This record gives sequence, C-alpha cells and structure tokens, in this order.
Amino acid sequence: MTATLFTQTPTTGHGTADSFYYPQLEDIVAAARRLESVVNYTPLLHNQNLSDRYGANIFLKREDQQVVRSYKIRGAYNRILSLSAEQQQQGIVCASAGNHAQGVAYACALLGLKGTVFMPVPTPSQKVQQVRKYGKEYVDIRLAGDTFDDAYHEARAFCEAQQASFVHPFDDPEVIEGQASVGVEILQQLELAGHPADMMIMPVGGGGLASGLSAYFKAQSPETQLIGVEPEGAASMSTSVAAGTNQTLDTIDTFVDGAAVQRVGENTFRICQQNLQQVFTVPEGKVCATLLQLYNQDAIVVEPAGALSVAVLDSLRDEIRGKTVVCLISGGNNDIHRTEEIRERALLHEGLKHYFIVNFPQRAGALQEFLAQVLGPDDDITHFEYSKKNNSSKGPALIGIELSHKENFQSLLQRMNAQRIRYEYLNDKPDLFRFLV
Ligand SMILES: Cc1ncc(COP(=O)(O)O)c(C=O)c1O
Repeated sequence: MTATLFTQTPTTGHGTADSFYYPQLEDIVAAARRLESVVNYTPLLHNQNLSDRYGANIFLKREDQQVVRSYKIRGAYNRILSLSAEQQQQGIVCASAGNHAQGVAYACALLGLKGTVFMPVPTPSQKVQQVRKYGKEYVDIRLAGDTFDDAYHEARAFCEAQQASFVHPFDDPEVIEGQASVGVEILQQLELAGHPADMMIMPVGGGGLASGLSAYFKAQSPETQLIGVEPEGAASMSTSVAAGTNQTLDTIDTFVDGAAVQRVGENTFRICQQNLQQVFTVPEGKVCATLLQLYNQDAIVVEPAGALSVAVLDSLRDEIRGKTVVCLISGGNNDIHRTEEIRERALLHEGLKHYFIVNFPQRAGALQEFLAQVLGPDDDITHFEYSKKNNSSKGPALIGIELSHKENFQSLLQRMNAQRIRYEYLNDKPDLFRFLV
C-alpha cells in the first residue's frame, strides 16, 4: 500500500485559493437541512474488533445503511432540488453503472420527475433492476455503449438535445455539498459521544465525497487529519496530485467499481489536492480480504468501495494507536454473485492461493505420487485442469492449491523441487495469470 503525501497549505473552509469553486460552509449546512427529511441519519458506531486490533478508538459511519444503500443519494437529491421548477420539468439525465444511478432514480421518483439514466450495455442485470425499482415509472433506462465513458457521452448528447439537466456523479457543486452533509452528521455524533476525531478516512473515486467531507471538516474540525483512499488499480487522484495537474489514466482496474475512475473531476481534484493530507492506494486483494473480514467478524455487508477506508488501517497502524478514527463505510451494494471472485482475490493477496502449470509424466500413478509426496497435510487442490496428450511423454496440468498458512508455501516448493517436478509458477506472471483466473 502506498501513500502520496500532500504538502500544500490548505485555505480555510470559507476561502478560495484563486477563482475555482470551493464548498462554502453555509451551503453545506443548507444542503444538510434540505436533505434531512429524505436521507437516513445513519449510525456512527464504535467498532470493538477494529479498535482492539489497532489499539485505537475506531468508529464506522454506516452509509451502507443509507437510503439506496450508499451516500450517493445525498448529492443526487441536493442537486435535483437546486434546479428551478422549470428545469425540473425539462427532465433529469445521468450516466452511471452504479450507486449514483440509484440515487438519481430514487430522487426522481420521490419528486415525481422524469429521469433518464444511461448505463453501459454490459451492466449486470441486478443493477439495472435496482434502478428500475427505485425509479418506478418515472425513470427511463437506456443501455448504451460498452463502457461508462460511452454511456456518459450518449447521456450528454441526449441531455443537450432535450435541454434537460445533467446530474454529474461527482464534479458538481451541489453534488459535492450534498455529499458533505454526511460530515455534518459525523461531527454531531462525535460531539454527543464526547470524542473529537483525530482522523477522518474517506474513499475517493471521482472525489465528490472527499471534496465535500474534507471541506466541512476543515471548517469545523480543523485539527482532524483528512485521509483519502483509492483502489491501487484506479489511482487517479493520487497520480494527479503527485503530478500537480489532473491526469487521465490510460487503463484502470474497474473491480472496485464505485471508486474506479480514469479521471477525477476538475473541481474535486483541486479541492482534494488542497484539503487531504494523504491519499493512500490499497490493492484490490486487500479490499477483498477486508470486505470478507467485515462480513465474518461484524456481519457488516459492504461493497468493495465501501471497504476502502477500513482496508487502509494496516498502513496507518502506527499513526492511529490511541487515536479516535472515523472510517466512512460508503456503500453496501455488494452483488452476491461476486463472492467467488472476492474470495479468490483475497486468498491470492494473503498468499494462500497458488497456481502452477505442472508437467506430469504421462503414465499411470503420476498424479497419485504428486498427491502423496508433494501436497502437505493442510494443502488443498482447488483447481485441476488436464488433458491427456497423444505422442508426448509429458502432459501439462493447471493446478490451483489453497494453503491454510502462507508459511507453508516454501515447504510446498521444496517438496516439488525434491521430487524433480517440472513446473511454472503463475501467480507472479500477471499477463498469463489474468487469462486463467
Ligand atoms: C460506495 C461508493 N464509495 C465511494 C465512491 C466514490 O465516490 P466519489 O466519486 O464521490 O469519490 C462511490 C462512487 O460512486 C461509491 O458508490
């Protein structure tokens, strides 16, 4: 896990460094008031397991328990409410494959407005169903293009043709101020609990949440350290801040779907550059291990982006000891069908799953010898693919082995070498590996 340290001197919550947009305290407070009757005032819960593990006082802000199971309703609803009655009647348009679409759909149905949500064609049907469920008869779903970017461009063109209003998922003042309303709740809750926050950890995708939340904390709790976290495979904010200008990443890993963007917003880039002390990146495998741990130990269901703020705690172990830390759990829309992939990525990250191509002699008993002489008592074959070859004395088999302790890996290799088994180890060959697993 890596961290990018920012050294800019922040302006105050009320100030603007130059002429760019910066969220103002009164606008955030107004957004929080506007949203009061619509969003859930989600719990801020002390987590004993994490507090014990890190010797810290760790609170989780549970936006997985928000309406539409993520904080995204806050920004979407605030933006739509800021439109004039005439603009609202012209219709609402957004592009998203996930939580933002659900927030916009929910807001449109609640306000009785016509909405059009653009999603890429390969969007899983479960997500399409959710948007349909929240949007009821008010929302039209258009599947367009292969990627989010394709859907976005179609949505923009449609919006212009209809003279409708576009609700951006992150780079929009009212969206940012709406997301900031979660900070108003957090500080109220901490005050009641009698614990000022030493550190606030928040996930970063396009940067809308981090911009709003950090601006509110800077104004109201300036002593709190503000930390952003993004997935390693889509580190657009830390790359941009390190470069000093907003960068577009050529390719990204979209696994942490809520927080995987190629380019962060122009406003959100500047605000985060100014407000966040550090942005960490966390490997996708670590995110998966954390997601499973939250489920197994605390019965908390999060989606990958929702686990980011907890996944980074190992990297902050020394800094947080004895401190009060708030982790924002941003969403709980985890698709159960992804569980196998999540478990696989977690095992690989923890050094518990290993893949080999083993060249077996093509004779009876060869596999039995492998099982008897190479596998340890707790090693488990979880994958085996082999086809007998004609005209060859050797036949390759793809084997996946799960270990109970990562320390057992060296002894597994020693036994393979002692038996003079010819193999290729695949975990460290990413180009080959991604075709197989
Ligand atoms: C669950 C979840 N967490 C985090 C993010 C990242 O949010 P932002 O784009 O505001 O940085 C998103 C964005 O959709 C999300 O859905």
